[in-house]
Amino acid sequence: MTLLDDVRPSTTMEAPRAAPGVTVPAAHRTRRMRRTEALRGLVREARLDPAAFVQPLFVVSGRSRREPIAAMPGQARLSADLAVEAARELAGLGVGGLLLFGIPDAKDPAGLAAADPGGPVPETLRRLRDAGLPLALAADVCLCEYTTHGHCGVLDGERILNDPTLGALAAAAVAYAEAGAEIVAPSAMMDGQVAAIRAGLDAAGLTETAILAYAAKHASALYGPFRDAADSTPAFGDRRGYQMDPANGREALREMALDAAEGADILMVKPALTSLDVLARARDRFDLPLAAYQVSGELAMLEAAAERGWLDRRRSVLETLTAIRRAGADLIVTYLSADAARWLAED
Ligand code: PBG
Ligand code: ZN
Repeated sequence: MTLLDDVRPSTTMEAPRAAPGVTVPAAHRTRRMRRTEALRGLVREARLDPAAFVQPLFVVSGRSRREPIAAMPGQARLSADLAVEAARELAGLGVGGLLLFGIPDAKDPAGLAAADPGGPVPETLRRLRDAGLPLALAADVCLCEYTTHGHCGVLDGERILNDPTLGALAAAAVAYAEAGAEIVAPSAMMDGQVAAIRAGLDAAGLTETAILAYAAKHASALYGPFRDAADSTPAFGDRRGYQMDPANGREALREMALDAAEGADILMVKPALTSLDVLARARDRFDLPLAAYQVSGELAMLEAAAERGWLDRRRSVLETLTAIRRAGADLIVTYLSADAARWLAED
């Protein structure tokens, strides 16, 4: 007998039958509520709502400028006029908000352009405000898109300084709030950044501007595509001296508690899919709204596999977003906001 003969289906195979000696107790029959889509719908625990999606937009100077980002299929750097067009479409789909990232024309070691009221972010915010769309307007607050070295703070040699960075972050937050941001989102992972921004906003009379804190932000490989988009890859070293060790969950909760104490209005974890445990634990611990950021690398993984036909794009995207919601996120920052909103409307 050859090996092949061994694996050929047996012609004497029996009809399926219950395992001898096993009776399934009535209360163990969990399949009852899975029989039809209507039954499943009755007991579904987590649902997605486009109103809780936030779409990141990369904005640049100029007019009619649209530069696709290679590692982020479907995403592009947009000038303010095209960003408003994109916003109009997102609002039409019921998406809840936007998160703006600016890519300046020129960078400098201190990232001064981050607080320039004439920069692409304030320019886009003013136009969006004038457009009067039903979207919450948020702006990311960091220096890495604006510094020549790509780090999130100001330097002394190759040291990334904490306290001297805080004033620059507060100044940027004030510039964005004055231009129309309802939410500012500090992502630099400098200690005290939420307190510094809250104080800066309040001193400028911007007491109604909310803070979405990137509270638990891991030093992740999954930000790679974003750094190409923003041209913000660190020129030396890496971000592990300020972003969190991805191995740490308890420390993530401590970061969130500190940001809550400093006055954050929303606490965010990032990346989303590698932080579901943190999200679930934070849900039990904090009453503040929780956000999760499905980052550029999460997008890249889904898009690349879908493009090869290895994953069903729609099902995979909705499943990952649902898992993020199930873990405890109230709002989700995702590059897939438009498609997800469209699919949910069809369902
Ligand atoms: C800026 C910032 C980054 C992201 C959000 N804000 C990049 C980084 O920290 O390197 C990542 C977003 C993404 O990957 O989609 N500090
Ligand atoms: Zn940064």
